[in-house]
Amino acid sequence: MQTLSEHLTELIRQAAVAAGYGDNDVPLEPCVPTDPRNGDYQSNYAFRLGKAARSNPRAVAAAMVEALPADPLVASAEVAGPGFINLRLRDEALAAHLLARLDGEGFTLSQPGAGKTMVIDFSSPNIAKRMHVGHLRSTIIGDALRRIYASLGWRVIADNHIGDWGTQFGKLMVAWRRWLDQDAFDADAVGELQRLYQLFGAKAEEDPSLEDLARAETAKLQSGDPENTALWRRFVDASLEEFDAVYDRLGVVFDVTLGESHYQSRLSPLVEGVLAQGLAEEDQGAVIIRFGPEDGKALADTLLLIRKSDGAALYGTTDLATVAYRMETWQPDLIAYVTDVRQRLHFSQVFAAARKMGMAFTPEHVYFGMLRLAGGAIAATRSGAVLNLVDVLDTAVERARGVVDGKSGHLSDQERAGIAEAVGVGAIKYADLSQNPQSDIVFDWDKMLSMEGNTAPYLMYAYARCMSIFRKADRDGFVPGGIALEHPSERSLAVLLARTPEVVERAAELWRPNVVADHLFAVANTFASFYHDCRVIGESPEVEQSRLSLVRATAAVLEQGMKLLGIQPLDRM
Ligand code: ARG
Repeated sequence: MQTLSEHLTELIRQAAVAAGYGDNDVPLEPCVPTDPRNGDYQSNYAFRLGKAARSNPRAVAAAMVEALPADPLVASAEVAGPGFINLRLRDEALAAHLLARLDGEGFTLSQPGAGKTMVIDFSSPNIAKRMHVGHLRSTIIGDALRRIYASLGWRVIADNHIGDWGTQFGKLMVAWRRWLDQDAFDADAVGELQRLYQLFGAKAEEDPSLEDLARAETAKLQSGDPENTALWRRFVDASLEEFDAVYDRLGVVFDVTLGESHYQSRLSPLVEGVLAQGLAEEDQGAVIIRFGPEDGKALADTLLLIRKSDGAALYGTTDLATVAYRMETWQPDLIAYVTDVRQRLHFSQVFAAARKMGMAFTPEHVYFGMLRLAGGAIAATRSGAVLNLVDVLDTAVERARGVVDGKSGHLSDQERAGIAEAVGVGAIKYADLSQNPQSDIVFDWDKMLSMEGNTAPYLMYAYARCMSIFRKADRDGFVPGGIALEHPSERSLAVLLARTPEVVERAAELWRPNVVADHLFAVANTFASFYHDCRVIGESPEVEQSRLSLVRATAAVLEQGMKLLGIQPLDRM
């Protein structure tokens, strides 16, 4: 099913051809005018065509409006300002379009991803270290993108590329055998591993021979020594258990968890292959890939080290082997990575190197900024355990409980506990997902749990209100239909709801879940005005049927959208 925007784009293109301007350029999507009095969609295509044809855009727009084919969806087309074309949809067609998208209880999206595959690499924390706030952001944003792409028909493989290999394991093994506090490990495994690792650092400063021991242990692990392998497995399992507790709480799932260790046997052949292809060079015993001006401004004169002079492979080597593995295994069209902004250069280099090696896929690095705590403190996104994520979630749920108790005293204790869990977790996710990933975000408890404004609780309450209207209407087996858009508030709501599929597509295209969040916020606000202006229950049967259908569509869009963001809609709050 086409989106409204696709449909109108096609019409505009036809008008341009019919008016004699050809379609020598990719038409811009018509966009939504800021002032609704200017119509439902606005196209600025005449500016482009006018520029190419050296004609006045207003004249071009007028010719296009003249040539616009008659269409059941379009009520009027007008030239506005210096060359915009304002389009207004026909009410009946709009209502029909909306109803066609309502499938049972849900809302149908278009499937532009049908037949396409993507791998998305997100979360990817490091073994024996506590997950930090950067991993939380990667997990939340990555999971939302996974859901958004899947909803558009993509086959999505979510891969948790955990950091489970490297020289730190030799150090940990030395420390473990000397200084392990078993009780501490039983109580908080990752905390103890982290302590041992730090302790190793301190001790090795006094006694550098410890470093030699650690190197020997790492080498033993790498050559498959059973004892070290078993110990490594223990570190991995203990860490995964802690990570899984966070994923469970967040409702995040992965299709595969293939960490860095999975690629170890592929690294040497990869480096040899790159050398044989003449893409890398040896430099004082190390192997590097050099980038030149042909690789773009940002990469020119940088280099990617893929083998150190002592023979060790690096982060980038593993990432190249990982791309090769993913290409062999899933033949993805797209591979996306979600990490903080500091890994930008790294991924640009990996993508460019993979391209040189002949791997054909579209790469995307979705990077995000820092997270700050209200009050100014910075919760560093990479260094150490600033916040324990389980504590963060507990705090959110505890605070949400306060809000829910205040608002929903009529519900049982158990119900309120369930609501608080959904609201608390939802609030954390939404605080992140409602902002452009690339901007730094501020973590503000009061704001994210507020009932007013662009927050999870606000959306969740809007949805629960729709559901309560249905309970009140007491219409079992209600079938939406017969929408008549009479009041301006009904119309505004219908236009907004009908745009949902193109909004989700746009969010995917831009890699920005906040495009969906902004839409949901607009829907919740527009619904509030509608509900204020238009009585739903107690009007004539036709009006009630029409308005209940709008409520159903609103609920379906809110539910769909919240699920895309990983937020659990609740029928009752
Ligand atoms: N483990 C890395 C970190 O904590 C993130 C890995 C991201 N994915 C990748 N394929 N490099 O920074």
